[in-house]
Amino acid sequence: MSLSLPTVELSKVNHSMSLDVSSFPPAPRPLYTDVVAGFNQTPRTIPCKYLYDDRGSQLFNEICDLDEYYPTRTELHLTRKYLEQIAAHIGTGARLVELGAGSGLKTRVLLGELIDPHSYLPVDISPMELRRCSDRLRKDFPDLPIIPVCVDYTADWQLPTSSVGGRTVFYYPGSTIGNFYPRQACSFLKNLSHLADPDGGLLVGVDLHKDTALLEAAYNDRQGVTAEFNRNLLRRINRECGADFDLDRFEHLAVYDEEHRRIEMRLISTCRQTVNFANDRFSFEEGEYILTEVSYKYAIEDFANLAEEAYWRTRAFWTDRDQLFSLWYLERESVH
Ligand code: AVI
Repeated sequence: MSLSLPTVELSKVNHSMSLDVSSFPPAPRPLYTDVVAGFNQTPRTIPCKYLYDDRGSQLFNEICDLDEYYPTRTELHLTRKYLEQIAAHIGTGARLVELGAGSGLKTRVLLGELIDPHSYLPVDISPMELRRCSDRLRKDFPDLPIIPVCVDYTADWQLPTSSVGGRTVFYYPGSTIGNFYPRQACSFLKNLSHLADPDGGLLVGVDLHKDTALLEAAYNDRQGVTAEFNRNLLRRINRECGADFDLDRFEHLAVYDEEHRRIEMRLISTCRQTVNFANDRFSFEEGEYILTEVSYKYAIEDFANLAEEAYWRTRAFWTDRDQLFSLWYLERESVH
């Protein structure tokens, strides 16, 4: 699937200005087409990127603060603890390209430690997120050129040619890499290695395989924020595709599949029902579920192998004492 969102025209962006998001409205998204295609699979599936409308993004931020959701705070702890080493690996004059608009603490902590960075490029599909992120970071780093890039980085994309200079170092925190199936993760990492300079780098956060109870608790929080995040997807499809999902008739459940080492986030139909949208009707049996997200959890060795297959050499990795989460600094292999 490829979305053709235009990249920000860098020649028109004044680094000290706020970005005018109305100057690059996103192309219409093929949500409807993707949902219909996914509903013809077994189990019925909706691509997880659609979880992140404005409300979904807000809910995800709330998830990151939950007690049960250990990845965000563990990655922040690792970033702080190993900051000097990380900055030394990234080196002087880097052009830091963050995949996903990063206005959060981790990004600020990292940017604050980099040695004479050349520029910072947040890349995100959502113009609103990009604007929020860029505006906030400009306040903290007024002298750093911040160049937002509005693009679907999971599709074919290019770094803006007008932002040349600096060694390209990609930053992909949060273990979002786990939301790809391993084959897709490998292609995605290969694509990054093609986009990187010969001496380019990648700092990536990766969630680790662990006890099922701990994982399931992280994705089935007691306050029900993750359930709301999941069900919000149906609200979005109702709004944007004219569907008539009854949100009270779908229950959230996250299950850890130990064999495949992945969390599956599901919406389970609580009764036999039919859902309509446009010219399509879909019947659900009681107990039938829609798969809305997978979140893979890696063993250290498996991720190192995956990275190597995608032309990235491990220079360093850091984990916490309980081996909950890992942070990796990878360098592009010189021969492709
Ligand atoms: C964005 N991504 C890494 C999160 C995860 O843990 O897979 C999304 C998420 N889904 C439910 N909770 C968090």
